[in-house]
Amino acid sequence: MKIVVIGGTGLIGSKLVAKLREQGRESVAASLDTGINTLTGEGLAKVLDHAAVVVDVSDSPSFEEVAVMKFFTTSTSNLLDYAKAAGVGHYVALSVVGTGRIPDSPYLRAKNAQETLIKDDGIPYSIVRATQFFEFITRIADGATDGATVRLPPVLIQPMAADDVATAVARVAVAAPVNGTVEVAGPQQFRFDELIRQGLRARNDPRKVVADAHARYFGAELSEGSLIPEDEPRPGETRFEDWLHKPTLVK
Ligand SMILES: NC(=O)c1ccc[n+]([C@@H]2O[C@H](COP(=O)([O-])OP(=O)(O)OC[C@H]3O[C@@H](n4cnc5c(N)ncnc54)[C@H](OP(=O)(O)O)[C@@H]3O)[C@@H](O)[C@H]2O)c1
Repeated sequence: MKIVVIGGTGLIGSKLVAKLREQGRESVAASLDTGINTLTGEGLAKVLDHAAVVVDVSDSPSFEEVAVMKFFTTSTSNLLDYAKAAGVGHYVALSVVGTGRIPDSPYLRAKNAQETLIKDDGIPYSIVRATQFFEFITRIADGATDGATVRLPPVLIQPMAADDVATAVARVAVAAPVNGTVEVAGPQQFRFDELIRQGLRARNDPRKVVADAHARYFGAELSEGSLIPEDEPRPGETRFEDWLHKPTLVK
């Protein structure tokens, strides 16, 4: 069973390819680095030849409103067309918990458009929605920084380790399509400002984190439950403090 991982050189993709190979699966990493461009279609017909499963864990290089929408709609349309032509039987995509609930967010509007294209296409599919990765904390802080202060709303967040995301996506990829959405989340809930404060402190980052109910998260105002799963999510194992203090982990 050939599994093609689109974005297979990225944070999640590289872990996913490794996990699938450890399980003895034929897993191929596809990305710009390996000569595959989902925006133009370059290399897609060749890499998808005889593929049983496509897993899209690619991400837009830019989160700017127009660029990110163009990335997810163009690349998903191309991927679906080439996957259908190749007879792929299972299309898996990684999305974000809260997609569809935070329309103020340009990034999540683009992820919602990606999900809609997949749901409407007709290829058997599974969408995995994950919460924020521990590895994403510095980027979140950077996006919320004004001078030396980071402003974030004190809403609930249930982040998870990228390694647990990859494990969850690998499980979904080798199972039958659910033709629906699976949510995954970490084992603990935090207040958003407190999580980022702990993350920055562990890196000796001197920025001050302030709770501000109206601070925007990548353009969006959040409510108490915006970032946490709606139902019972499949749980990731890694606790935040264990991840922070594991020296071998890439943060
Ligand atoms: N960050 C979070 O907290 C979070 C939470 C939930 C879900 N997600 C989702 O997780 C997914 C993966 O995120 P990540 O952090 O693992 O991404 P990442 O590390 O930024 O990797 C992005 C991958 O996409 C590839 N790529 C970009 N443009 C491409 C193109 N035109 N054609 C082919 N490949 C292309 C890159 O290839 P090159 O390296 O060759 O450029 C790279 O392999 C995203 O879809 C995101 O929405 C993220």
